[in-house]
Amino acid sequence: MEKKKKLTVSDFLRMKQEGRRLTMLTAYDFPTAVLLERCGVDILLVGDSLGNVILGYESTLPVTMEEMLHHTRAVRRGSRTSFLVTDMPFMSYQISFELTIANAGRFLKEAGADAVKLEGGDENSLSMTNALTRIGIPVMGHLGLTPQTASLGEGMKVRGKERESAQRIMEQARKLEQAGCFSLVLECVPDRLAALVTSRLKIPVIGIGAGPGCDGQVLVTPDMLGLTQSRVPRFVKQYANFSETAVTAIDAYIREVREGSFPAGEHSFHMSDEDLRHLEALD
Ligand code: KIV
Repeated sequence: MEKKKKLTVSDFLRMKQEGRRLTMLTAYDFPTAVLLERCGVDILLVGDSLGNVILGYESTLPVTMEEMLHHTRAVRRGSRTSFLVTDMPFMSYQISFELTIANAGRFLKEAGADAVKLEGGDENSLSMTNALTRIGIPVMGHLGLTPQTASLGEGMKVRGKERESAQRIMEQARKLEQAGCFSLVLECVPDRLAALVTSRLKIPVIGIGAGPGCDGQVLVTPDMLGLTQSRVPRFVKQYANFSETAVTAIDAYIREVREGSFPAGEHSFHMSDEDLRHLEALD
């Protein structure tokens, strides 16, 4: 367990130059944020995967600004010194420059985020990224599989397998860097493409399902802890099985309550024999 100073965007650039790998994990609540900070994770991401893994939506599309703000605040309360990135939810950066800037500003001012993440490398994402970075709001890009627009393409499948789409990802990565992104997430792309993009950019590239050649890695925390109740993608390594641990504990609780062995003496508050006799003597 390592106590860390708060990292900044320039630390991430330096870490890339020095070949030090970055760790990022998602957090959506106070206790998880406390644990991640305690372990010294470099970046906490309040992903809009919140929609699927915490709120029970079918996709990330229904996630609102208010939901993202609510969860970002909880994560900030649990992680005073971690670098905190939050996802701009679908339709919070598509309507106008004014609304995009106002929404991004709310994450920094009202929820304590250090940066925002925008999906995609099309004209809209590039110009919005540019507008935000020009006024000093740090932006993390996100290319490859971008869940907010997954249904426009091949769904939740690997991107960049064909020459044309691989070339598009490479070009968009460069444009996002030019637009001022301080780092880039590459999701679900072939390992060699990710390694090539990583070697061509100055900013750190953080992979998820993108192989070992990136500058850092991110996973959805409930997936890696074995808490996600639906099927998890093949690229996830499950480091623990919290669901099984929870089921064992809840089963034991139900059994003990039913048989009367919980609560035991050590879980109860006590009064003296004398006080009890006094009470019993009253009518
Ligand atoms: O929403 C999310 O959790 C993400 C990660 C998968 C990078 O964007």
